[in-house]
Amino acid sequence: MEGAESKGCLGKADLDYGKVPQGLGCMLNAHKQRLTPDGLADAGEHASRLNTRLRYRVYYVEKCSSTQDLARELAEGGAAEGTVVVAEEQERGRGRLGRSWFSGKGGLWFTVILRPGQRLVNLLSLAVGVSVARALRSIGLPARLKWPNDVVIEGKKVGGILVEAFSGSGEEITALVGIGLNVNNDLPEELAETSASLKGILGRKLPRLPLLMHLLEEVDGVYTLLVEGRGKQVIDEWKSFSDTLGKAVKVVTQEGVFTGVAVDVGPLGELYLKTGSGEVKAFYSGDVIHLR
Ligand code: BTN
Repeated sequence: MEGAESKGCLGKADLDYGKVPQGLGCMLNAHKQRLTPDGLADAGEHASRLNTRLRYRVYYVEKCSSTQDLARELAEGGAAEGTVVVAEEQERGRGRLGRSWFSGKGGLWFTVILRPGQRLVNLLSLAVGVSVARALRSIGLPARLKWPNDVVIEGKKVGGILVEAFSGSGEEITALVGIGLNVNNDLPEELAETSASLKGILGRKLPRLPLLMHLLEEVDGVYTLLVEGRGKQVIDEWKSFSDTLGKAVKVVTQEGVFTGVAVDVGPLGELYLKTGSGEVKAFYSGDVIHLR
């Protein structure tokens, strides 16, 4: 295949990757930009030097609709596990349940392509939550996890995880693991009550490149635990970071709204709710509202 780079379609982060679908190469080219002050554009070089099991290859774009869409194009074109798409800004960032995800400049918005196999795909959201919590805690931020996919600090959402999975012709499952973290971005007024940025919490900006590298290392570490069959350890760690367990909550699902106390998380990542009648009910998806 003629190297996409030789057509001038790719940035420096893409040097060793030759399987870019034609359309996407040009899309990346359209978004190719200058280096940014905190150097996110250099993520490819730094990530390729990480001592990780996943061999990360990073595509950096200044602006896109959603890193999930770019990652999907790459994945469908045969991109390897460990391919990452990172954007300064997303025009149509999305969250779970079709919600829009505010993705202005200054945040960390990226998607990692993983091929975990059917058995592990449902655990990815919790596992990646553990990675994010580990990375933030290591720099002194008291991050906690709200089931199923929110990263919170002092009750405010600072990040979220979106896992979109699809299968190809064979058995293989591709998971697009999207991580959104409010780092140095300002948040719109309507989110101020429920969400926060790390900049707002710390009172100063955080350099995003080292944070991104740290997140990639932790994603690798926790994903490796899953792949090695140590899912229980990951769930136990999730529980230790949980902001949900032990709380009175409302679980909103397509079948209805259920109120009770969140009592446990099971081996598939399911949440157990003890309702007023004493019944314990399992939830595999849904939205949780903390009541107090
Ligand atoms: C949620 O809390 O509902 C999940 C939010 C996930 C946002 C990230 S930002 C990078 C990736 N691209 C997207 O469009 N969404 C995810």
